[in-house]
Amino acid sequence: MITKPTPLKQLPPDLDRERLPKHVAVIMDGNGRWAQRRGMPRIMGHRRGVDALKDLLRCCKDWGIEALTVYAFSSENWGRPLEEVNFLMTLFERMLRQELKEMMEENVQIHFVGNLEALPQSLQEEIERSTAATKDNEQIKFTIATNYGGRQEIVQACRAIAEQVRDGRLDPEAIDEAVFERHLYTSHLGDPDLLIRTSGEMRISNFLLWQVAYSEFYITDTLWPDFDRQAFHRALQVYQQRHRRFGKL
Ligand code: FPP
Repeated sequence: MITKPTPLKQLPPDLDRERLPKHVAVIMDGNGRWAQRRGMPRIMGHRRGVDALKDLLRCCKDWGIEALTVYAFSSENWGRPLEEVNFLMTLFERMLRQELKEMMEENVQIHFVGNLEALPQSLQEEIERSTAATKDNEQIKFTIATNYGGRQEIVQACRAIAEQVRDGRLDPEAIDEAVFERHLYTSHLGDPDLLIRTSGEMRISNFLLWQVAYSEFYITDTLWPDFDRQAFHRALQVYQQRHRRFGKL
C-alpha cells in the first residue's frame, strides 16, 4: 500500500539546497506559557517541547542540515522550582534512553555542552553512554546545551589556555581565534549560520556568545511546542532572503 508522505518530508521546492544553513541553533522558549495558556502545569509544556525537538531533528536530517544545537537548560535555570528542575533532568535522561536506538538508526551524532559535572550522576552516565555510542555517526551533529552558560564557557576556555601558558606549553603570541575556539565546548562544530528563538523574546540569554558573532537571527512569536516543520520552513525562507556580509560590503 502506498502511504501518504509525511508533510514536508522532503526539502520544500522553494528552498535552495545550496544555500541552506549548515548549522542551526535554537533557543527553545515558551514551553511554560504554552502549558499555562491551556490551563496545564508547566511541565506539560516541556513534555510537548520534547516532541517538537524530536521532529525538528528529524526534519533537519531529512532536509540535509548538518548540525542542530539546542539550548535545553541554562546555568541560570537551577533557580526554577525544584520540582520543575527535577522534572527536566528526568526528561533529558528518559529521552536519551528512549531515543538512542532511533538516533543510531538515523545516524545522529550526539554531543552535550555545558558544565556537565553538576548534573545528576545518572544523567551524566546516560550522556556518556549516548555520546560514546553515536560518536561515529555522521548524518547530523545534534548538540544539547545543558547547564550551559556562554560567559562560563568563555571563562573556562581562558582558564584552560592560561594553564597551558603557565606550564610553558603555549606561547601567548600563539593565541589567536582558532586556538581560543579549540577550547570552547563547541570545538566539534562550526559557528551557527542561523539562530532561531521561539516565543518572541529579543535576547540571547547567554547562549553561544562567541559563536553567534555572524549568525543570522530569526525570532518568532510561535511558542516552542508549536514550532513545527511549517514554522521551520518559514525560518529558512527568511534566512535565504538575507544577504550575509560577515562585516564586509
Ligand atoms: C524554555 O521554556 C524551555 C526550557 C527551559 C526547557 C527546554 C527543554 C525542552 C524543550 C525539552 C528538551 C529535551 C531534551 C531532551 C533536550 P520556558 O519554560 O522558559 O517557557 P516560558 O518562557 O513560557 O516560561
